[in-house]
Order: sequence, then C-alpha cells, then structure tokens
Amino acid sequence: MSVHISAQEGEIADIVLMPGDPLRAKYMVDHYLKDAVLVSQTRNIYFYTGHYQGRRITIGASGMGCPSIGIYSYELFAFYGVQTIIRIGTCGAYTTDLNLFDLFLVDAACSESTYAQYAWGLSADIIPSTSSVREAIQTTAKKQAKTIRTGNIHSSDIFYRKDPAIPAIATAHQCLAVEMEAFALFANAQELGRSAATLLTVSDVIPTHAKISADQRETALLPMMELALESTLLL
Ligand code: HPA
Repeated sequence: MSVHISAQEGEIADIVLMPGDPLRAKYMVDHYLKDAVLVSQTRNIYFYTGHYQGRRITIGASGMGCPSIGIYSYELFAFYGVQTIIRIGTCGAYTTDLNLFDLFLVDAACSESTYAQYAWGLSADIIPSTSSVREAIQTTAKKQAKTIRTGNIHSSDIFYRKDPAIPAIATAHQCLAVEMEAFALFANAQELGRSAATLLTVSDVIPTHAKISADQRETALLPMMELALESTLLL
C-alpha cells in the first residue's frame, strides 16, 4: 500500500491507463475490461485491474492538475513497479487548426509549474513523453485508420484566468493546446526511468468557444479510449 493507493503488492499491472475523471475510468472498466478487480478505492479514486484482449492492465484516475497526477503517477512508478502510464484526457485547442473531437498525441509538455524543479531539480520548462510509447500509439492509430495530430502541449496550472491571451510559455514552445497534467507525469517518468505518454481529445476550441456538449461527451471519448487500450497490446 502507498499513501494514496490501497492496492496490495502485485495487484497493479505494469501498464496503467489514466483518465483524469474517476467516472471515465469506471466507464472504461465496465465497457472494455474482462475479470476486472477493484484494487484501490482511497479517496474514491478507484483503480481496477483486469484484462483487455488478454493483456493485463490497470485503469485508474489521476484527478486534475499536476499536483494530483504527480502523486498518483509517482506512487504507481515508485511503489507498484509500474513501467508505463498513458494519460488519456481532454484539451482545449489554442488554434482553429485543431477541431473538436481531434485526437492529439503529445510530443512534449511545457509548464510554468514548479513541479519538476522542486520535486526533482529538473530545470527544463518542457519535458518529452517517451518515444516508444508514442510509436505504439501511432502504429495502432494507423491500424485503426484514425488520424492523430501531434505536437507540444501546455500543461497549465490555471483553468480560469483574467487575461484571455495565450500564455507566453505556450507560444514559446508552439503549443497547439492546453491541459493540466502531462508535465508532472513526464517529469516523474523521466526521474524514475519509466515510460509515459499523453493522448488527448480536443474538447474545446478556445478562440471560437466551441465545446463538446454534455451529451456528446459520452461517445466523444470512445475513439481515444479504444486507441489507448489497443496500444497496450504493443507495450
Ligand atoms: N484548459 C485547461 N485544461 C483543459 C481545457 C482548457 O481549456 N480544456 C480541456 N482541458
């Protein structure tokens, strides 16, 4: 057991799919996992371990923001021997070059967050994802005939802000979109010598205020979930 995860040793698979939202994790388990076992329920962040097409995987939520995913991904890597975490989530597009429902595979995440610096002494403000995991997702996307966009993401600590301008760090690193977690996940993976990737669905386009509606959300994220699940078969 770790501080925030109550699973016993051996109950978590070597690969973890990590949506932000606990209910999305439960949805994936109910629709795609066989023989799923609930292995942790601390703070209602349920983790389930089961099988997808014979591949043992764990699915559990990260919560929102770098501090939250920083805790869960650290405990999974450091105390449960997890080798690979794939975050799946949503992002807001900074540009109309991206459209609602587009799949976006993150190359690297930049942030104003002090997480990497204060946790690990990593001074870089941009941290790459793991190329082998990106390649598995790219290969699987081709197999599934899905188009995916790639590029850098801005992992912001802020959802609501006064100034609507795109933050300078996002412009400096040519970020096409914003979310709130990938930077801390990649920092932990880099520090601990493990693998991580982030696959996102565009849920809003910031310049036009276009948004996926509440009733579209149920099905909007299925292509991303199915791509992430199938990618685990190559990892
Ligand atoms: N900002 C931050 N995170 C997000 C957004 C956003 O606009 N949309 C989806 N995740």
